[in-house]
Amino acid sequence: MEIVGARNSAGPRQILDPNRRGDEIGRFEDTLRRKIVGQPAALEAIIELYQTFLAGLHPPSRPIANLLFLGPTGSGKTRVVEAMAEALFHDPRALIKVDCGEFQHSHEIAKLIGSPPGYLGHRETHPVLTQEALNQWHTDRMRLSLLLFDEIEKASDSLWQLLLGILDKATLTLGDNRRVDFSQTIIFMTSNLGAAEMNNLIQGGLGFTRPRRAIQDSDQEEAAPQWEDKLDRVAVDAARRKFSPEFMNRLDRVVVFRALRRQDLDSILDLELNLVQQRILAAAGSAPFLFSCSPSARSRILEQGYDPKYGARHLKRAIERNVVFPLAKLMATGQVKLGDLVRVDADPHSGAMSFVREAEGLLIPVSREIGHEPPAPQLNRAARMPGRRLEFPFSVESK
Ligand SMILES: Nc1ncnc2c1ncn2[C@@H]1O[C@H](COP(=O)(O)OP(=O)(O)OP(=O)(O)O)[C@@H](O)[C@H]1O
Ligand SMILES: [Mg+2]
Repeated sequence: MEIVGARNSAGPRQILDPNRRGDEIGRFEDTLRRKIVGQPAALEAIIELYQTFLAGLHPPSRPIANLLFLGPTGSGKTRVVEAMAEALFHDPRALIKVDCGEFQHSHEIAKLIGSPPGYLGHRETHPVLTQEALNQWHTDRMRLSLLLFDEIEKASDSLWQLLLGILDKATLTLGDNRRVDFSQTIIFMTSNLGAAEMNNLIQGGLGFTRPRRAIQDSDQEEAAPQWEDKLDRVAVDAARRKFSPEFMNRLDRVVVFRALRRQDLDSILDLELNLVQQRILAAAGSAPFLFSCSPSARSRILEQGYDPKYGARHLKRAIERNVVFPLAKLMATGQVKLGDLVRVDADPHSGAMSFVREAEGLLIPVSREIGHEPPAPQLNRAARMPGRRLEFPFSVESK
């Protein structure tokens, strides 16, 4: 389309608002905020670049964006990328993930790009980074791919060269000379670099004065902006010390994740328990039921699952141990029936978990119209539970 400037067409002057968000970006943002706790800088970065992508203003002949996520383990760096995949493609696995630790030796690079014709094993190796793999989740509306390089500080020199090429030119030549185009791809890279320095700073080390309102577990308030800047700076400086200037110059944005606080873990516990409930409702061949956790059961799980050094990493394990495994045993032994409500409780002194059926008949099976899938459970509207608010499909809470 050719655009010709119109003469004499002055319109009314109007102030425009670049902060206004359209419906699509609003939905995207809501989905991310429901899945990610804290980490506002990461969400803001992703929302901005998705908006730029939707407007078609991302740079041509480069990846849509090159992002580096720094910060402590278990703080959500990988989870943010999975949440973006879920928001865009309804599947947290709709991304290609390269664990750089698996490609530490230069010969292992063949697993990523395939070996040249004639080399031993040429036909057997199926490269990870092909165009088909990148485009596999594309739809007519959404031609965007997500590529994640995890733990890039572990990358070998040859992986590093390959990465630099992708970040700069958005292309890669495979072993058999096919070219892969990354211009519709967002490249995420994660590293724990800087996490130790951030932790030292929080603990009052490194010669900085500890702020009066330091980010500690017990502290409910947000830290001061200068403090946030300092944390960003120590992490980025650690990255600059390790990574070459060529690499740092190719990044569009560096996002520094914060260590999760106890109250963040509390919210993540809700998210994770809801996911367990979804798994129970979706489990084929069993009787779906509802469960709820008492405050003392939640405290018990948090006690076992919270370690500031590991962020939310231990939380999932504590949930499996205290909730998922016992519920699986109840299911396997036929002790729970379709539509039961099981209350998970913990003895405040011994910590022993207990499981009590509190109500029954809360769900009814409704058969699905298409295919041969098992019936989907629906809330039985006729069921009554005094003193409780039922929110189906995923939560049952005390009032
Ligand atoms: N901010 C968060 N919001 C929601 N869930 C989170 C968050 N942080 C961590 N989690 C939970 O903890 C799990 C581990 O987090 P994740 O894999 O994203 O950590 P990471 O920062 O990538 O750590 P590492 O540096 O060790 O790879 C996630 O799968 C998720 O269940
Ligand atoms: Mg990770």
